[in-house]
Amino acid sequence: MRRKDFLRAGGALGLGGLLNACGMKSAPGVLPVDGSAFDLACEALPKVRVAVIGLGNRGSGLIDMLQWLVTQGHAEITAVCDINPAKVERAVEQVAAFQKAPAAMTDWEEAVRVEVADLALICTPWEWHTPMALQAMRNGLHAASEVPIAYTLDDALALVQTAEATQRHCIMLENCCYNGEELGLLKMIEEGVFGTLTHAECAYLHDLRALMLDPTYYEDRWRLKHHLQRDGNLYTTHGLGPVCMYFDILRGDTLTHLVSMSSREAALSEALAASAEPGLQAMASAVKCGDVNTTLIGTASGKSIMLQFDTHVGRPYNRLNKVIGSKAVHYGYPSRLYVDHGPTWDWHGWLDEGASAEMRDRYAHPLWTRLQALAAEHEQGHGGMDFVMMYQLIRCLNEGVALDLNVYDGVLWSAVGALSEQSVAAGSARVEVPDYTAGRWREARRHGVNRKV
Ligand SMILES: NC(=O)c1ccc[n+]([C@@H]2O[C@H](COP(=O)([O-])OP(=O)(O)OC[C@H]3O[C@@H](n4cnc5c(N)ncnc54)[C@H](O)[C@@H]3O)[C@@H](O)[C@H]2O)c1
Repeated sequence: MRRKDFLRAGGALGLGGLLNACGMKSAPGVLPVDGSAFDLACEALPKVRVAVIGLGNRGSGLIDMLQWLVTQGHAEITAVCDINPAKVERAVEQVAAFQKAPAAMTDWEEAVRVEVADLALICTPWEWHTPMALQAMRNGLHAASEVPIAYTLDDALALVQTAEATQRHCIMLENCCYNGEELGLLKMIEEGVFGTLTHAECAYLHDLRALMLDPTYYEDRWRLKHHLQRDGNLYTTHGLGPVCMYFDILRGDTLTHLVSMSSREAALSEALAASAEPGLQAMASAVKCGDVNTTLIGTASGKSIMLQFDTHVGRPYNRLNKVIGSKAVHYGYPSRLYVDHGPTWDWHGWLDEGASAEMRDRYAHPLWTRLQALAAEHEQGHGGMDFVMMYQLIRCLNEGVALDLNVYDGVLWSAVGALSEQSVAAGSARVEVPDYTAGRWREARRHGVNRKV
């Protein structure tokens, strides 16, 4: 079934179906959600049965991240699924090297059944994240999806409503929230080093031209197609996720509105035109996504966020990770910290390497410190953060406690992408950010990553 037909046949819990079936009509500007999946804790799963769907770059990487958890008895990979049979075969071999061979599947709907798994681990192209997560939840599974979990507002709302109706976990796997630098900054912020937070700048700046043009790196060049069809911030969450963690977003504050502007496009179309492949050359005039998208986001408490996206231009990888407070400032890439001494005529220099290292050690996050020794012994994934993320996900499911990130986090960070497209299409007009939490964002609470499992 094609994705469009699948969504159309969404059934009782599809967005339209759910609203009609319940006879619910939402007030203008108020979403028909109830906030009931906020601190969702479900039955403990001493050994989580995992179906991995999408066995490309990310799927095979996350299988590596699961290995230690499997060998400790915390999880078992019960199914691997991809439309490409060669990738299924490869994944069966990969998994069979450390546990019983999993079921091999090419039909994802077979994989998201309770007879097969407790958790659907979705590592497919973006267009499949929402339909697979919805179906998994409807069938009684928990859903964990790669980023972004949705890229339309209809999909974003359907995810929240389905998580609330089914009381299943629906988490977006934002690994950058689990990086050592980001966790250390969170600790400094919580301990008051930054004073009052006012502004942040974050981004996904990653030259993906070679990967998007390569005939096999992304299956069927799925990622390139998005750049031919859409203009805005197509990959919000690696930059925005950690900033939302620093800013207590959905834990006392929320994103309220944004404006977004895309630059003209040049670098991707020039790469396409220079390609030796006539099919790619023909696409050169069809690129829709501008090279650099800049989105400005406001929060309820008056903080501001600058979020950028650029996967066309050749330059070093960067997520910026800039945080501004009344008492300290951090810039990432490389990590630099300035601690304020009050109004002064002195030179405002970054802390030197010794003082920075001292701060890093003093504010190392316990989650990071605790798991680094373990991560160092195994496949780490992006410097350790992928291991920490998968550890937290599986261990929370083992214990039957709320996950670190809930459906509202993933949906909000993803919806910013769809809203940026709206703003760009309307000449950078102001767009309101919907409240997916039924007002529960107002409840102040510590972030889930601070809990020990
Ligand atoms: N968090 C991170 O750091 C990170 C890193 C890389 C990729 N990702 C995300 O992971 C996802 C996958 O990216 P990738 O680089 O692995 O792409 P990929 O093309 O290598 O892998 C996607 C796989 O999904 C399969 N697939 C497509 N449609 C399917 C369907 N209907 N049923 C089953 N399988 C299907 C494809 O055959 C392919 O093997 C994307 O959402 C991407 O944004 C995240």
